Parts: sequence; C-alpha cells; structure tokens
Amino acid sequence: MALSAGLIFVNLSHAQEGAVAAGEALYEEHCATCHGERLRPTGAAPDLKNLSVDDRTKFETIVWNGRGQMPSWQGMITDDERAAIWAYIRSRAK
Ligand code: HEC
Repeated sequence: MALSAGLIFVNLSHAQEGAVAAGEALYEEHCATCHGERLRPTGAAPDLKNLSVDDRTKFETIVWNGRGQMPSWQGMITDDERAAIWAYIRSRAK
C-alpha cells in the first residue's frame, strides 16, 4: 500500500514537472515579448509572478478575453496549454 501510494505521488510530480516545462516553452513563445523573458518584467506589462494562487480564475479569464493592450488567446492556445503556462508561472511565483 505504502509503495503504491509512493509511486502515484512520483507520477503526479513528474506530470507537474512536465506541465511546468511545457508552460515555460509556451510562455517564451507567446507571452515573453510583453511580460518579459523568464518572467522578468519589462515594464510593458504586469509582472505575472505577482499573481497569487487564488488568481487562477482571473488569469484564465484575462488570457481568454484579453485586456487593454493584451490580445485574447482563446483559439490561439488550448485549455491544456493555458494550464501549463499557469503551472510555469506558479512554479516561479514570489
Ligand atoms: C502584446 C503584449 C502582450 C502579450 C503578447 C501578452 N500580454 Fe498579458 N498583458 C499585456 C498587458 C499590456 C497587460 C495589462 C492589461 C491591462 O490591464 O490594461 C497584460 C495583462 C495580463 C494579465 C493580467 C495581470 C494582472 O496582474 O492583472 C495576465 C494574467 C496576462 N497578461 C497573461 C498573459 C499570458 C499568459 C500571455 C501569453 C499567452 C500574455 N499575457 C501575452 C500584454 C501582453
């Protein structure tokens, strides 16, 4: 029992690492021009590392709808890709 629980845990954390790596690549491709390479803010757009764990719904809504100078990403990236970008941002959060 203890062994299988351990295996499940390892598998989940590997899945999480995979999402973070995928999210990093997607972030650099789609978001870094405005939000800064490696999440280092440029001044042109908010520092996404300031989002808290409770801001996920806000993040998802703004990414889908766009806001101000920021374009909408709905139809440009998938739900899974948006979730991977969130996982990447959370992994670097302050
Ligand atoms: C063309 C430049 C540009 C690109 C590309 C861009 N953004 Fe933005 N983003 C902005 C600007 C500017 C704002 C501030 C909008 C406002 O509040 O007027 C913003 C705001 C946001 C916010 C709200 C932050 C907050 O604290 O309120 C989130 C979340 C966000 N962007 C995520 C993303 C993600 C994820 C991507 C990549 C898929 C992305 N952005 C790509 C320019 C951009």
